Amino acid sequence: MKTVHTIAELREEVRKQKAAGNKVGFVPTMGNLHEGHISLVEKANEVSDFVIASIFVNPLQFGAGEDLDTYPRTLPEDQQKLEAADTDLLFAPSVTEMYPNGNAAQTTVTVPDELTDTLCGASRPGHFCGVTTVVTKLFGMVQPDLAVFGEKDYQQLAVIRRMTNDLCLPVEIIGMPTVREDDGLAKSSRNGFLTDEQRSKAVFINQLLKETIARIESGDKAFKDMEQLAIERLKQDGFEPDYFAIRQQDTLKDATAKDNKIVVLVAAKLGTPRLIDNMCCELI
Ligand code: PAJ
Repeated sequence: MKTVHTIAELREEVRKQKAAGNKVGFVPTMGNLHEGHISLVEKANEVSDFVIASIFVNPLQFGAGEDLDTYPRTLPEDQQKLEAADTDLLFAPSVTEMYPNGNAAQTTVTVPDELTDTLCGASRPGHFCGVTTVVTKLFGMVQPDLAVFGEKDYQQLAVIRRMTNDLCLPVEIIGMPTVREDDGLAKSSRNGFLTDEQRSKAVFINQLLKETIARIESGDKAFKDMEQLAIERLKQDGFEPDYFAIRQQDTLKDATAKDNKIVVLVAAKLGTPRLIDNMCCELI
């Protein structure tokens, strides 16, 4: 696997692959890779001829006081993992390569509020604008035929699908299921910041999602009560819940008794790390 750090080198590699008629698959990441990320690379390998991964800790999507400075940067280990997963090319640009005019002077891409000012967007203003801006730029550089994202970041995936569709970008977006630890905790680069005590508590998020999904599948439509109860239980267990929300899968609007495609989403802080997870169900 070759690693390139500049847009010019990346473009040259992409040009060769396109000239050879190869289908390019793309997996954007912020690094500190785990099995969740690698599952995306494996999918990209299945459905394309040439797989490009990127590692870029994108300052535009971090708010003031968030963990930009402490976000784990582990390039050599990440390179080994990508190599082992048969990645063809890694693009690992610097901040100045991505934002040569400075972060604030970057042209931005904004998906409408209905998808971006709720859930994670409500507590992280500007976050999704940072994500859609960097993903649009990366799409422009990599020119992938397809790009693979994780359902773990459910709202991010919905926002990227909407952006790709609204801007008619010629990229197929593929979503992949969340990869979990044995006890059900969603794998995340931020799990490493949990103390042993927090780590054993963290599984409660997944248990609560499973319980709620079971109630919904059994026909319970008291969604607001379920949300309230879950928030209380998270607080009792020492979490600082951000939201616990029962929504429509496609629009992320509040689920109603008539909806049959439902997603339950949660975000909660446990000490410093902020954990997110979600689970879907389809009622028949
Ligand atoms: P990052 O958090 O590094 O995640 C990169 C990709 O890995 C995302 O598509 C995310 O949904 C997926 N992912 C993370 N944990 C996963 C898990 N446990 N199972 C399956 N997939 C998982 O998301 C970002 O980076 C950034 O916002 C990015 C899209 C790269 C833009 O900067």
